[in-house]
Amino acid sequence: MNNTSVNKPVIGICVSKKKRLMSELVERRIKRFHGNASFIKFHVEDLDFKNFQVKGECFEKKTRNWIEGIFSFPDVVYVQCHIEKEILEQIEQIIGRKVFNNFIFDKWQASDLLTKDDFLQRSLPDTQQLKNETNLQQFLNNYQDIILKPIDVTKGHSSRGIFRVKLQNNEKIVVFFAKRQEMKVKDFLSFDDFFEWFSVKTSGKDYIIQQSIQTMTWGENTTDIRLNMNKNGQGKWEVSVLLFRVATNGSHMIPKVATALTINNLIKMYPEDSKKWQDIEKDITTLGHIICQDFEYHGYHMGNLGIDLGLDDNGHLWIFEVNPLPFPLDGTVNDESLTKPLEYALYLASNKNKKRLFF
Ligand SMILES: Nc1ncnc2c1ncn2[C@@H]1O[C@H](COP(=O)(O)OP(=O)(O)OP(=O)(O)O)[C@@H](O)[C@H]1O
Ligand SMILES: [Mg+2]
Repeated sequence: MNNTSVNKPVIGICVSKKKRLMSELVERRIKRFHGNASFIKFHVEDLDFKNFQVKGECFEKKTRNWIEGIFSFPDVVYVQCHIEKEILEQIEQIIGRKVFNNFIFDKWQASDLLTKDDFLQRSLPDTQQLKNETNLQQFLNNYQDIILKPIDVTKGHSSRGIFRVKLQNNEKIVVFFAKRQEMKVKDFLSFDDFFEWFSVKTSGKDYIIQQSIQTMTWGENTTDIRLNMNKNGQGKWEVSVLLFRVATNGSHMIPKVATALTINNLIKMYPEDSKKWQDIEKDITTLGHIICQDFEYHGYHMGNLGIDLGLDDNGHLWIFEVNPLPFPLDGTVNDESLTKPLEYALYLASNKNKKRLFF
């Protein structure tokens, strides 16, 4: 059995075999992190509960290589993929409550959970699971403008698989969807025509249907807000990134081609409404904290959440999505959510009150 460096806390990061991007992200996180810890990357299948060992790869900072081996159980586990509840409980029995992001939820589970909170409910667009043609048609007739989203956040992201559907004159249907970073528009003469096209395109994937919210526009283009929340090195939730985004179109965001601005630009961009936006940063941050606390209230141990919000012309905030596996932003914005989860992991590892239950 390999031993990681003596006295250094060992942080385990559980990744999926299928999602290479999440696995590569782990390396980016470690390279940017300056804390004193060893890192083991592993797949959930490689946990050996009989011998309290795990087969995985340890990151060697000097050579910047991953070294394969069999290691003792880590002090902390940072979850970056779906793990069955029973397995999470087994890990917690061994290392204590030091497994974080222990709820990798899908879009329906997120909406279903948050809607139980009276305060958050006011910010949640009406959402249902897509069951069949009938419930979709009823929902569309009701709102006239809806959004269809693939339920599984690990399958759809960056607006992939999203369709905004508008009913015009109670008959014609106009659909907006992104293709190769461009917003496409397609018309259908009847609901049946649309549904046939949609069914072929999405080939039986699970979807939610959601009331569309008209967010503030900049020129013809729609806007939204991106908020990354992280637990920090003191174990407290804080904002890592707060951006106001302007889309390239009037329907919805295609993240890679959107313009992202810091939130104080809101007041500059809409000076005539500046009074309305005075407290907006505080309001967004408060909403972010309430969302994070809600997961804790329901017994989940989370360390980072990506939240997409929308702001309508009345200044009301809407929650579009909460993502348990947010991708830190690349490029110009210094997104601390790249390294914050490791700082939180280190905090948990050094938390002497919560000792390992065994050995
Ligand atoms: N109910 C809604 N009303 C209006 N616009 C919405 C709504 N829901 C989502 N949008 C827009 O569509 C975009 C993508 O939606 P969402 O964030 O739910 O999906 P995603 O593809 O998983 O996103 P991500 O790029 O964050 O992975 C949002 O950023 C927002 O611009
Ligand atoms: Mg999103």
